Amino acid sequence: MIDKIKAHIDEVKAFSTDKVEELEVFKNKFLSKKNGLVTEFFKEFKNIPPENKKQFGQVVNNLKNAVEDKFNEIKEKLEEQNDKDVEIDLTLPGETISLGSQHPVTVVKRQIVEIFKKIGFVAIDSPEIDDDFHNFSALNFPPEHPARDMQDTFFVEQNPDVVLRTHTSNGQIRFMENHKPPFKVIIPGRTYRNEDISARSHFMFHQIEGLYVDENVSFIDLKQTLMYFAKEFFGPKTKVRFRPSYFPFTEPSAEMDVSCSICSGSGCNICKHSGWLEILGSGIVDTNVLENVNIDSKKYSGYAFGLGIERIVMLKYGVKDIRYLFENDMRFLSQFEHI
Ligand code: DAH
Repeated sequence: MIDKIKAHIDEVKAFSTDKVEELEVFKNKFLSKKNGLVTEFFKEFKNIPPENKKQFGQVVNNLKNAVEDKFNEIKEKLEEQNDKDVEIDLTLPGETISLGSQHPVTVVKRQIVEIFKKIGFVAIDSPEIDDDFHNFSALNFPPEHPARDMQDTFFVEQNPDVVLRTHTSNGQIRFMENHKPPFKVIIPGRTYRNEDISARSHFMFHQIEGLYVDENVSFIDLKQTLMYFAKEFFGPKTKVRFRPSYFPFTEPSAEMDVSCSICSGSGCNICKHSGWLEILGSGIVDTNVLENVNIDSKKYSGYAFGLGIERIVMLKYGVKDIRYLFENDMRFLSQFEHI
């Protein structure tokens, strides 16, 4: 029996192959748990006379080790060979890496901010979560104003004094609290309103606020600035018109329309055949607002304006449904890669 096993050891040592399948067959022949030769020899162990058990055990172990060594040695060789066989073709074209692009809301926000920077505005940040004072009271909203209603405003449940800002106008108060005039700031940011999602409205959107306070700032300054903006953004032929309006924090207040950039004023679906598009609210900062932040309203005056970025994106690119801007559908977004 021992001689037989020794013959197997010689067989194992002499074994060689360059095929993975043959190597597997070789391994199974000896080491298969079910019917491998090593397993079979170990089963014989109980029939070996005690004085031979030690020698027998050693020889079977030698066989087992020889098989394992051989197996590992050939396996390593085959793997090395495999690596060598894969030649690198340097002439193959590289993998295309698709670059991301900016979201249309971001692109338009940056374009607008750049236009205002050119005439001396400084872009600043303000908090998205704020208190009643900065979002409403300091902006001259009377306590019973409907905008404070649960229907419009997201309040933080544990503390009704904390709101998700309903407009970027809170940034006016935040800035004026800590700065003395003169200043010219532009405040882009996210805003929230408790509205049902539809083609025209969303509970989250973006605004840009503008604020200029100095001595002798008048409605003429406001008109000139917004006219410049409209022509820079929508094109030099753009016309503007102002309509009287009401906001608690400006007096007088006005909304501004631009001539429709899609049909140049001749009438289309986007401008509902009126030839005009409303793009922003504006006005002369109410003296109460200045006083609320300790700015002397006899010495200083200012103008402010606010516009919705999504609306501008929709008007400029003829997007009919605001939801496209929030669904991250690549078929939609990839159309804006080059704007
Ligand atoms: N905060 C207003 C809104 O969300 C927009 C607005 C109107 C901002 C007039 C202003 C302004 O600064 O003067 O509807």
